[in-house]
Amino acid sequence: MARFPEDFLWGGATSAAQIEGGRCEDGKGLSHLDYVYYRGPKRPCNFMLLDDYKKARIEEATLNFPNRRGIDFYHRYKEDIALLAEMGFKSFRMSVSWTRLFPTGKEEKPNPEGVEFYHNVFRELHKYGIEPLVTMIHYEMPYGFVDEGNGWETDMIIPYAVKYMKFLIDEYKGEVKYWLTFNEINMVNAVPFLGGGIILDRPGPTSKIDFDSYTPTPEITFERKGPPPTANFARWDQASHQALHHQFIASAMVVKYAHETAPNCLIGNMFNLHHLYPETSSPKDAYRAHEETEFNMLFCDVMAKGYYPAWMLSWYKKHNINIKWYDNYEEILANGKVDFISLSYYLSTVVTADPARQEKIGSFIRFLRNKYLETSDFGWQIDPIALRISLNELRDRFNLPIYIVENGIGAFEELGEDKTVHDDYRISYLRSHIEAIADAIEDGVDVIGYTPWGCIDLVSCSLVSMSKRYGFVYVDADDEGNGTYDRYRKDSFYWYKKVIASNGEDLD
Ligand code: BG6
Repeated sequence: MARFPEDFLWGGATSAAQIEGGRCEDGKGLSHLDYVYYRGPKRPCNFMLLDDYKKARIEEATLNFPNRRGIDFYHRYKEDIALLAEMGFKSFRMSVSWTRLFPTGKEEKPNPEGVEFYHNVFRELHKYGIEPLVTMIHYEMPYGFVDEGNGWETDMIIPYAVKYMKFLIDEYKGEVKYWLTFNEINMVNAVPFLGGGIILDRPGPTSKIDFDSYTPTPEITFERKGPPPTANFARWDQASHQALHHQFIASAMVVKYAHETAPNCLIGNMFNLHHLYPETSSPKDAYRAHEETEFNMLFCDVMAKGYYPAWMLSWYKKHNINIKWYDNYEEILANGKVDFISLSYYLSTVVTADPARQEKIGSFIRFLRNKYLETSDFGWQIDPIALRISLNELRDRFNLPIYIVENGIGAFEELGEDKTVHDDYRISYLRSHIEAIADAIEDGVDVIGYTPWGCIDLVSCSLVSMSKRYGFVYVDADDEGNGTYDRYRKDSFYWYKKVIASNGEDLD
């Protein structure tokens, strides 16, 4: 018997900021991500500190921004879509750049060139029978909202974001059936600047950012391990959960609108799933793993069930988090439940109840190594079985279709003399995860699609670099933005083509 449904949506995933480039072309405005810059191979930079953000804003002409060019999808989308079509894609996950349509976020009318660009992309996809899956907000907002309201921490952004998302539905509902409101909504808690435009050490959410009095300071240390030095976790939790509440509200309003005006469209949530194991069979470790899983599920619960789970409200109380609830929020959430669950899945993690060994980053914890698992070049623990377990749990909890919209392995890669990359590790990673999905389907989970991340090499989100690569297609560009930007098929390209052609039967 076939292991995957006949209409299974095989494809791949990207985001606008990581592929498009065309940073200031044809009327595009700047987003807060446009100010995140490359700081070296091991230095993620997500700007939780005001000083860092100011530096980027003031020195923007001199700092290197790989996102400026992305992979130049803005100019090469036809060539790229042809490559996806050659692999047999049924689905392509992409996002729309808010600032390409509404350059400052406050315009009455959208930028016509931006509007046309996305029509052209959707048209090109449909030419090959590829269904677009569109994320409305993939870690991007017009940067003015950072200055004015500290991103999503205040509610001033909500009407503008809702207007933008409703516009997407109105304009593109004839071309796009599958939508996601926010990418990895839980990341606003883990990485407040990235997910919410929140600068943590700002004097107050609505205080003005004064760039005139800026004098460059020595570089701030924000190494891969450990939080920024000034991190104040009480403030971190308060700001990020308030922002999350605002995102839930905006999302629910848009879901309701789509249900009323675009019955052909289906809208999903999107959260980062990381399966958690207790380190030992101690009940305390088991409880810790349970608690973290519940925490992670909050992000689905609110969007799929339409209310905050009771334990979360008591967690807020216990941690002195005072959410300023949006007017009529209960009704808004109840009326804006998503149609399907979507998730990114890369790794599983281990937790312990021992506080001395469990480092906390915001409300998230820094995870421990699992001695049974191998890791990627970047230390991400590879665990397809955890995906199967989690898919089963999600089925039981929500009983909704599930779209796996990110999964994959980032690696250092170079183009060989034979003009390809022999990425057998990628084939093996994806093969094991596709097997796990097939098992979950056999378990009765309704998985409707699979779009591995970075199907064409793109700019890494955490490292803001090209050297962490995920693609089936190699892009000749480096971390400094040098290169021909030409595309080359990797070994995995031919393998995935076979997988799709056989509807997941031929994984050799
Ligand atoms: C997800 C994001 O968190 O993971 C993507 O939605 C991101 O934008 C992907 O690129 C992989 O992370 P990274 O840091 O390896 O690019």
